[in-house]
Amino acid sequence: MNAPTQALSFLHAMRPLPELPEWQAFCQAAHTADQYTFDLRCLKAAGIQVDLSGQRHSAQLSHAGQALLHAREFDNARAGLLDGGLVNTTEQRAAWHSALRTPAPIVGVAKERERMNEFVRVADSERRWRNIVHIGIGGSDWGVRLSLAAFGYRRSWRQVRFLANIDGHALEHALSGLDPHDTLIVIASKSFTTTETLQNGQRALEWLQAAGVPHPYEQIVAVTARPDTAAAWGIPQRHIFRFWDWVGGRFSLWSAVSLTTALAVSADVVAGMLAGAAAMDQHFQEAPIALNVPVQMALAGIVNRSVLGYGSLNISPYDFRLGNLVPYIQQLDMESLGKSITLDGEPVGVPTGPAVWGLAGTDAQHTFYQWLHQGSDGAPVDFIICQQADHDNKEHHRLLMANCLAQREALMRGKTYEQALEECRQSGAGEEAEQLARHRVHSGGRPNTLIVLPRLTPFALGALLALYEHKIFVQGLIWGINPFDQWGVEYGKVLAGGIMDELAGAKPIQDSHDASTTHWIRTFKN
Ligand code: F6P
Repeated sequence: MNAPTQALSFLHAMRPLPELPEWQAFCQAAHTADQYTFDLRCLKAAGIQVDLSGQRHSAQLSHAGQALLHAREFDNARAGLLDGGLVNTTEQRAAWHSALRTPAPIVGVAKERERMNEFVRVADSERRWRNIVHIGIGGSDWGVRLSLAAFGYRRSWRQVRFLANIDGHALEHALSGLDPHDTLIVIASKSFTTTETLQNGQRALEWLQAAGVPHPYEQIVAVTARPDTAAAWGIPQRHIFRFWDWVGGRFSLWSAVSLTTALAVSADVVAGMLAGAAAMDQHFQEAPIALNVPVQMALAGIVNRSVLGYGSLNISPYDFRLGNLVPYIQQLDMESLGKSITLDGEPVGVPTGPAVWGLAGTDAQHTFYQWLHQGSDGAPVDFIICQQADHDNKEHHRLLMANCLAQREALMRGKTYEQALEECRQSGAGEEAEQLARHRVHSGGRPNTLIVLPRLTPFALGALLALYEHKIFVQGLIWGINPFDQWGVEYGKVLAGGIMDELAGAKPIQDSHDASTTHWIRTFKN
């Protein structure tokens, strides 16, 4: 099944940003805009409230942002993305993950969705698969971990182990203590060529065989865009769930890669996430620019990265269940925007995708918030919190919300020397007050966004993930880069293959290595 393949020729005619008069105007407006707005600036999309009051804002900046988007043919680009156009120009592919979550999907998508649900129904009715080992890496792993931690944190009768890393310790950890006779192995890999995944899959197969499982391949399921390769690997056709080339690996959560979540929590969770993401797609498609949440978040991110020069973006989910949101967004953002060449092969000319990092609050406060408050660099922060918790401990939730709001306010407003001095004097610092006060100054004006979910429902999480996807797409468009390829990662994979052969003695150590790499290949080989 192929996606429509309209060529989007304008994507190839992207002048580097510094050459655009609209970019100059945008930069100028960003420099003179208020550091944060005194009036509330809160937008809403798919039930999520996004408070952008902590970002640079002015009427002039807003107009300049619109002009910049216009210069980049935003309307055409968005239509191209959502209609399955060839937006991934370096791989001549669509990036049509939105087609996986639309309420009325094309036939092939609906069929795979139904096959997945039927698999879950049968497994549940037979009460099979007490254990699931989910094998996959990157986009074939993080989304499932995220949704499972979000909705399976109370644990179900099925136990899920994740196996992503090639490290043999990870393999031992994943399989130890499981009963091979009641374990389903889910191998998720878009390409079905990823070394880690195939090696781990092979070890899992051997583990089933060694335990005397009568039909080991019957206990393995594949989710892939290469069904023929999975079949050649030995997996029965009815255990192969497919998706398509036009779904990027980091967007494959919306495919049957979520089978593990459906088994471990429920198919309703997966359906809810799809519905939430579809609602965000609709918002992205229809909302005017000034109210379009992914677009406004993208513009704020461009100001922070390319105008103000912040090198990173901190993600602080104030929800224990959303801890895995950090690596999820990390892959989504950094694999998409970690590029410095335009679609035409020219240098972008401004700093692009930030390093994304973070930790769930309030652990984050006791780990790196000092750096955020008073470090020389600082970073914009995305605070994410649920208005309503799913436990009964109201006091805990109030404390969580208070901490989130307080950290944000401190980062935004800061503390002047005069305020700090007054504080020191009142606490009886005496002669040392002036000296001490200097240490208590917060510069303030740190950019931030507060994202409030009504509750952590599958719908809300789906919408949140799609919000970030679209934000990243808009940023890629403004920077003029392709957010859908990942050639940098591919290069390392090729080199690893060669070094692997050298370590195993399958080929001599090549002269082409640098002295240090040669030294370590020799050392490790011996
Ligand atoms: O890290 C590179 C990458 O290609 C990611 O984009 C992808 O999520 C991951 O490897 C796994 O790829 P696959 O699903 O093909 O095994």
